Amino acid sequence: MRTHPSLQDHRRANLGSLLLALCALALTTACTDRKTPSEDPWSRSGELIAMSGGQAGARYACATCHGVRGEGNGFDAPRIAGLPAGYLQKQMEDYAAGLRPHEVMRDVARFLDSHERVRVANHYAALPPQALPAATQEAIAPQTPALYARACQQCHGAEGVGSANGPPLNAQPAFYLIQQLQDWQLSKRRNDGNHVMLEVAQQLDAGQVRQLGLYLAQIPPRPATPDR
Ligand code: HEC
Ligand code: HEC
Repeated sequence: MRTHPSLQDHRRANLGSLLLALCALALTTACTDRKTPSEDPWSRSGELIAMSGGQAGARYACATCHGVRGEGNGFDAPRIAGLPAGYLQKQMEDYAAGLRPHEVMRDVARFLDSHERVRVANHYAALPPQALPAATQEAIAPQTPALYARACQQCHGAEGVGSANGPPLNAQPAFYLIQQLQDWQLSKRRNDGNHVMLEVAQQLDAGQVRQLGLYLAQIPPRPATPDR
């Protein structure tokens, strides 16, 4: 048994730590290398939440329901790619607060802290708008575009691409859009300031709700206008 470590042992130990440091450096560099100039640490972390579900686990990974490119599931989970960051973040606050009732999205939102909600919102807002093709070929009544132009366009923009006063609606699944309008009619969704959507929705009959959903669902996704 040796009591005094030899010079050689010292060298070996030093070499060991040097190797460790080099490995760490190599790992950091490997990560940094993959980073494109536009990618900041915030959006990367938003991507991680989107793909892994963050602390909540894979069950709540956004991609499971909203698609790997944020295109939605063509049914009840909307497309979120390319929607304004401020809108996306507000929805998660509203789900967490119960102003917008939905059991799954309430749990998803509550598992994220407010910083994570901002990061994941920024991540999806920065993705190119994506959607699945409209699920139904059901006929759109000739008067529906005019109804949209009269009752909705001032806030949701021409062809539903969104404006400073309302989020994009184009290329959302018809089922989803109809569901939202019905939720407003019943005052279940209550997260619109001044009840604008409640008042609008309550003036529509069931046939008009269905038609507007079908009409908006078949308009292709377009790049969002700058954030509002
Ligand atoms: C298990 C399925 C599921 C998972 C996982 C999920 N969502 Fe959702 N999400 C939905 C459904 C369904 C809706 C529509 C709920 C409703 O009708 O209000 C929704 C709605 C939303 C909306 C509202 C969009 C709009 O146009 O108003 C946002 C924003 C959203 N989700 C973001 C996320 C994010 C971010 C994650 C991951 C952290 C996530 N979701 C995970 C199913 C899911
Ligand atoms: C005065 C402005 C205004 C008018 C007019 C208006 N909306 Fe909205 N709408 C909004 C706002 C603001 C929101 C977002 C509320 C929130 O923060 O959740 C919204 C949200 C929606 C949503 C939910 C989108 C989503 O991704 O969940 C649908 C669907 C919708 N509107 C449909 C319509 C239709 C159809 C019309 C016409 C019949 C209409 N709106 C007219 C302001 C308006």
